[in-house]
Amino acid sequence: MCIRFSSVAAQQNEKWQSDGAIYPRCTWLGGELLGRLARWCVASSKRELRSTLSLVSIGRYSVLYQELKEKYRDMVRVWPEVTDPEKFVYEDVAIASYLLILWEEERAERGVSTPQSFVDLGCGNGLLVHILCNEGHPGRGIDVRRRKIWDMYGPHTQLEENAITPSAQTLFPAADWLIGNHSDELTPWIPVIAARSSYHCRFFVLPCCFFDFAGRFCRRQSRKTQYREYLDFIREVGEACGFHMEEDCLRIPSTKRVCLIGKSRTYPPAEEAGVDERRTWYLHSRRGLSGGGPLCPAPQAAACSSDHPDGDRTGGTGAQCDLEVSEAQAEGLWLPGFQPREKVERVRNCASLPRDFIDQVVLQVADLLLNRRKSHAGSPREGTCKAWNGGGPVHLGALGILGLGVSLCRTLLRDSKKGPCLRTESLSLAEVAWQLDRATLRRLKHECGGLQTLLRNSRQVFEVLDGRVHIRDWRRELQREKHPEAKRGPSSEAFKTRICWFFTHHPDGCVLPSTSCPFAHGPQELRPPRPPKKKRQVP
Ligand SMILES: C[S@@+](CC[C@H](N)C(=O)[O-])C[C@H]1O[C@@H](n2cnc3c(N)ncnc32)[C@H](O)[C@@H]1O
Ligand SMILES: [Zn+2]
Ligand SMILES: [Zn+2]
Repeated sequence: MCIRFSSVAAQQNEKWQSDGAIYPRCTWLGGELLGRLARWCVASSKRELRSTLSLVSIGRYSVLYQELKEKYRDMVRVWPEVTDPEKFVYEDVAIASYLLILWEEERAERGVSTPQSFVDLGCGNGLLVHILCNEGHPGRGIDVRRRKIWDMYGPHTQLEENAITPSAQTLFPAADWLIGNHSDELTPWIPVIAARSSYHCRFFVLPCCFFDFAGRFCRRQSRKTQYREYLDFIREVGEACGFHMEEDCLRIPSTKRVCLIGKSRTYPPAEEAGVDERRTWYLHSRRGLSGGGPLCPAPQAAACSSDHPDGDRTGGTGAQCDLEVSEAQAEGLWLPGFQPREKVERVRNCASLPRDFIDQVVLQVADLLLNRRKSHAGSPREGTCKAWNGGGPVHLGALGILGLGVSLCRTLLRDSKKGPCLRTESLSLAEVAWQLDRATLRRLKHECGGLQTLLRNSRQVFEVLDGRVHIRDWRRELQREKHPEAKRGPSSEAFKTRICWFFTHHPDGCVLPSTSCPFAHGPQELRPPRPPKKKRQVP
């Protein structure tokens, strides 16, 4: 079977429209599916995660998802953020569809017709809030950092820029549901905030990064995956807060697809005080269990926050000692140590890393993609060779890192000789990371935002598409003229102002002749860079 050919056929015959979520891209079908199938075949039959959409009617969900996808597809065109519009728009459409069906079924169960209200904590771009409001649910979103796109939604989509520090001031007694959609450090707090907001408040969280109440989540045991262990922790928090916890798996492109839902309580309203004592006890039992400070430490400015989201701030009157006593008591209910992240994200764009460190990582990754062990630098050439190496076929080692059994790898490789199906010109970011040493990865994470940022910033050499790294083929770039450098002909100011990486380092040299390559083939071609007339992004 050749997946690549069948996916192309699908594209031609069925007017295939990829949305990256329900209908995958052809590149994914061609480059990924076979490997995944193989992995799934040998994977342990013991399921760690629930099957998809087990708490809602799949039929109703699918119809609504298609409808909303159509309705909000224009968002992809006008998306002003730097993030991938397709991934974000269709992911939020999928999450909104899920919540809308969940809530519709809840109204039917309860015999009510009033649409549920909600607050989305850590709402990011706010699209989920926008869709839910548009579909008739009163609600709002809160995030420590406002986004450009917020201005595009119009006045009916309420989004607030505020840092949430879990406390008695960040309760939402009027909300039916609290949402934490990939809400990072707020995730473990959402069941607590929901439980204390009102007896009727429910919550939905879709955990992503692993945070405890006051810092990183530290795993206790290695039998489970870290993800499973974290999900179990959030379930435990929900149960300690007095919720019946339910789990489901969403149909979204993200790798973190499992949501946890607290729809009802395990105790009657009269027992609220006793249960709250248990909640407090549970919070304190987690003291010291997190891994040091939070990922994004920030000054403790919001501890007695003047910018809490409800705007119903207390304090400022009465004797100072009364205030201190009540603050101490309140702090007892809310584990201290949570630090909301900074409003302005630290720019981590590799500029602070030394050039030779960056060059060494670039070489190492290029070597991996070109399937060779050592750099062949030293004999620069122009590539007249037709079979210019743009990244080699998968070899046994690479399949090994995918976690495939050796015999299965052999079978796949044997089959791959019959056709081009298993040839790959890319590696996933995880595969690349696997090959780099820990110190390099740690340094990248700290100083430049990670491996992906470095590779994306090294645009002359790499192309990162759908989480996979490719060697950039400049023949295609010139055809597409999409890459800013590719638009720069000899008359452009940037033409030949940087050395061609391929000319210097690629074993086959540069795939382009010197006359059409926008980069310098040797120092003799190098032109001094001129300051740009107006501000523009340099790749
Ligand atoms: C991973 S992003 C997810 C954004 C959005 N929910 C989504 O899925 O696209 C986490 C968001 O939580 C916000 N956030 C984290 N801690 C926060 C806090 N203490 N108060 C308000 N927002 C916070 C961040 O600014 C960020 O936008
Ligand atoms: Zn996250
Ligand atoms: Zn070149």
